Amino acid sequence: MSKISSSPTLKGLLAAERLRRAGADVVDLGAGEPDFATPEHVKAAAVEAIAANFTRYTPNAGVADLRDAIRARYREDYGVEYAPNEVIASAGGKQALANAMLALFGPGDEVVVHAPGWPSIVEQVKLAEATPVTVRTDASDGFALGAGQILAAVTPRTRGIVINSPGNPTGALMAESALAEVADEAARRGIWIVLDLCYEKLIYDPQPHNLAGVLAARHRDRSVLTGSASKTYAMTGWRCGWALGPAEVVSACGALQSHMTSNVCSITQRAAIAALTGPQACVDAMREEYRARRDDIWTWLTADPRIRCVKPAGAFYLYIDISALLSADGYPTSAAFSDALIEEAHVVTTPGEAFDAPGFLRISYATSTAMLREAADRIGAFVGALDQKRSVATSGER
Ligand SMILES: Cc1ncc(COP(=O)(O)O)c(C=O)c1O
Repeated sequence: MSKISSSPTLKGLLAAERLRRAGADVVDLGAGEPDFATPEHVKAAAVEAIAANFTRYTPNAGVADLRDAIRARYREDYGVEYAPNEVIASAGGKQALANAMLALFGPGDEVVVHAPGWPSIVEQVKLAEATPVTVRTDASDGFALGAGQILAAVTPRTRGIVINSPGNPTGALMAESALAEVADEAARRGIWIVLDLCYEKLIYDPQPHNLAGVLAARHRDRSVLTGSASKTYAMTGWRCGWALGPAEVVSACGALQSHMTSNVCSITQRAAIAALTGPQACVDAMREEYRARRDDIWTWLTADPRIRCVKPAGAFYLYIDISALLSADGYPTSAAFSDALIEEAHVVTTPGEAFDAPGFLRISYATSTAMLREAADRIGAFVGALDQKRSVATSGER
């Protein structure tokens, strides 16, 4: 336990809660979850499941209909084929990933991950007692994840590479050609690739992103795909994700899960079947709304040239570079900046420290346009006050 840390986003949440209780009007851009309601037909399927007393244990990996629904979606979306014993439903993409890490990695193994990145991936590698080896992507090219960087981090001890695309917190997409290069080398060396596709349906620009197809064609024997209903269908609280991969790995994930949490909630499973097999127009509608919000908040924030950000292609975050606003006599770190933004402007963001890349703030635009406008105004005023404080300090020095 001493090796792992709990979720670093908790601090902001606690501060926001304290301010709210004190009556402050808090604008929360910290949340990593959709603000939309779960679609009606999905909720109805859950209500029906309860009415029909579908409330017992199910097979550990999920009912056959759910596994078929997941297989059909990946077949339709990416043209990849998985057998029923090559898919398992888990309590969120998070459990699907944790199962895969524990099944595949162990002491002495190195696992290549990328930063800025979602903190749970690194912590899960550590839970498996393996060693994370971090590849750093750069803000200047929109955090593009290149094959060369990943392969340069590979050593004889490398057992796995974990890729998240679209990425949290950057929204960056990995190019198919880059993944193909990594997959070919991984196949040659017998290295596992775990691909976290949690934000796969939230892609705004017409960029090819059939990463599942790339892995299926080049490296199917040693690849695991993980996905989730959470972000795509606004179902974070329902807890349903999945993993697709070779039967032995899926069976190992099932063995782990059987001793930890058993099956995904039976009612959630019926809801997830409705989500995956039902009309997908709700997904398109939410994506279009996110796109409009992304464009708005990006335009508003980057109007100040000291806030730099390449417009991200996916997910629902802006990862803004605020290093030009940090200084020894003002706020020296993005964590200090973020704390002050909460306390003084009542705007919650997540500092880059949480994603192993300080100097940035993650702004979630999974909130209403009115809230985003308010946040942009408050951030603008906060930065303006910062300038004033500095000019007073400088004239005082003279
Ligand atoms: C990159 C990434 N992967 C996976 C997950 C897991 O989400 P869930 O467990 O709700 O499916 C998240 C959630 O924030 C995420 O950001």
